This record gives sequence, C-alpha cells and structure tokens, in this order.
Amino acid sequence: MTATLTRFGKLPSKDLLTIAQLGTGDIETVFETAAELKRGRDQHNSVLKGKRLAMIFEKDSLRTRFTFDIGMQDLGGSAVFMDHRDARLGSRESLKDMARNLERWVDGIVARTFKHRALEELAANCSIPVINGLSDYLHPCQALADVFTLTEKWGSVKGRKLVYVGDGNNTCHSLVHVAARLGANMTVCSPEGYEPNARVISEAMLMARESGSDIEIVNDPERAVLGADAVYTDVWASMGQEDEIEERSAIFNDYRVDEEMMAHAKPDALFMHCLPAHRGQEVTAGVIDGPNSVVYDIAENRLHVQKAVMVLLMGGR
Ligand code: CP
Ligand code: NVA
Repeated sequence: MTATLTRFGKLPSKDLLTIAQLGTGDIETVFETAAELKRGRDQHNSVLKGKRLAMIFEKDSLRTRFTFDIGMQDLGGSAVFMDHRDARLGSRESLKDMARNLERWVDGIVARTFKHRALEELAANCSIPVINGLSDYLHPCQALADVFTLTEKWGSVKGRKLVYVGDGNNTCHSLVHVAARLGANMTVCSPEGYEPNARVISEAMLMARESGSDIEIVNDPERAVLGADAVYTDVWASMGQEDEIEERSAIFNDYRVDEEMMAHAKPDALFMHCLPAHRGQEVTAGVIDGPNSVVYDIAENRLHVQKAVMVLLMGGR
C-alpha cells in the first residue's frame, strides 16, 4: 500500500525559513504527519516518488545531512549534496542565478548557511520550496523535532515550563518560536550580552498573546530552572564562532547544565540538546548521559519531522 500525495495536507507557505511562517495549526499538522510517517515508514515509501532535493551546506553537519538524505530515500525520492564549506554562497555566482538553475532540476532545496539572508535570497528567486537547515539566526527543523519529542513524552506542551540555558543563538530562537506558538512557557537564561535576538522575542511575544504562553528572558540560571519541566542547552560557541570559545567559556561558566542545576528543576525534568555537545562545557556527562536525557530521541525525530516538512511542502507540487 502506498499513500497518495493528497492524503497529507500542505503548509501555507512555499518555504520553511522560520517558524514564524507557521501558525499553531500548521505546527500541529507537521507533528501529526511526522507521527504518521514514524508509525508507517513502509506504507509511505513513495509519497515523494521521483522528487529530488538539493542539499547545499556551508557548514558541517551529521544529523541534518543524514536525516534529509535518508528522509528523501524513505519517501521514494533522492537527494544531491553540494558541499559548500570551502566558499561562501554567492561567491562563484549570484544566489539568484543559483536558485534559477536549481529550480529547473530539483523539487526542493535544503540549505545550511552562515547568513540567514542567503536563504531568503534563494527562496525569493525560485518557485520551489527552500528549507532552512540552520542559519546563523534560526534552526526551525531542530525546534520542530525538539518540541515534537516533548509532545510524544507529555501529550502536549501547553502550560509546561521549558528553560533554555546558554547562548541566545539560532537553536534558542527557533525553540522560543515553537514554544510561543504552542502555548508552552519559555524561559531563556543567558549571560548579559548573549540574550536572544530582540526581533525573535518580539515575534514570540505576539505569538504568546494568542497561545497564552509566558516568555521570559533572565540572567540567573538557578532561578530560571526552578520548576522546569525541561532544560535545554546548546554549545557556547556556534559554528563560525569557534575562535571565541576561550572568551565565552569564562563568561558562560555559571551556565553549564550540571546535576546541581538540574536539581532545581522538577525531579523528572527532561534534558535536551540539539547536538553536537561538548561534555564538560555547556553540559556535564552525568546530565547528558543520564536517565532524563532525551537527546537521541530528538535526533531520531529530526528524521520524522523533516520527512513531514518535505511531504507538506513538496508533495503534490
Ligand atoms: N543538531 C544539528 O543540526 O546537528 P548537525 O549540525 O549535525 O546537523
Ligand atoms: N548553535 C549551533 C547548533 C548546531 C546544530 C551552531 O550553530 O553551531
């Protein structure tokens, strides 16, 4: 048995560059589709039959690269990887020309870029979906997998307290967006000067007004994690910031998620991380390798959630 393309819905936007393009119902559709694809890999093995995905990466990747490629194979399609680590996008030819070539050959693009603007330029110049596989600003596929994992554990995230401790970076931004859309209460705790982007926070505040979630940005980690249902952290220096790690390590030292910090959260609080992780820096081995860590569940769900995103954006086109 194979599913028909129309069996799954569509997302309203052409692309997935930011969670802000999705409404609450759209995120629920992604989660329902992901759950269905996760339950029946063999039943849905030709949903994207004959479709092609271009994968253009300016940065390293394990999870995003594997899960998009395997995801296309699972759905009956194929993927072509373009390693763009040696030269910045736009340096050999304009992003506009790149987009206009690619749309003649493939049905979708996933790109991992330094500049978020590069993704926007690709998307604006082609008729096919462009998916953000991480930019310096956002990581929407990660956040969808993060919160999908929580809904599997809890049923719903509404009213739950999620705490992100660390750098107000791409991962943090998209997590805040999803939490705000789905009515989870979100506390971000960063050192002064490393708080999340003001535009993301104002977008999240608007979303929160509709969903009823509370969004707070604080600097004191011990207070932040009090009563948390889940504690999330990410690296102190993201890709492209590696030369800042020494300086950042001193600044972020009190923001390491360790057993003592987790003791302030609820006793069954989950630990989350997008990976790759640096044990001994942003998280201790005891926490990330402990019984409440869900990091590998999240990594697995990258596959199912991104398959859902591809089906909902590329299916039926
Ligand atoms: N979490 C994540 O995006 O992992 P990769 O950098 O390995 O793709
Ligand atoms: N914030 C990290 C996430 C890696 C998946 C980075 O951008 O390097």
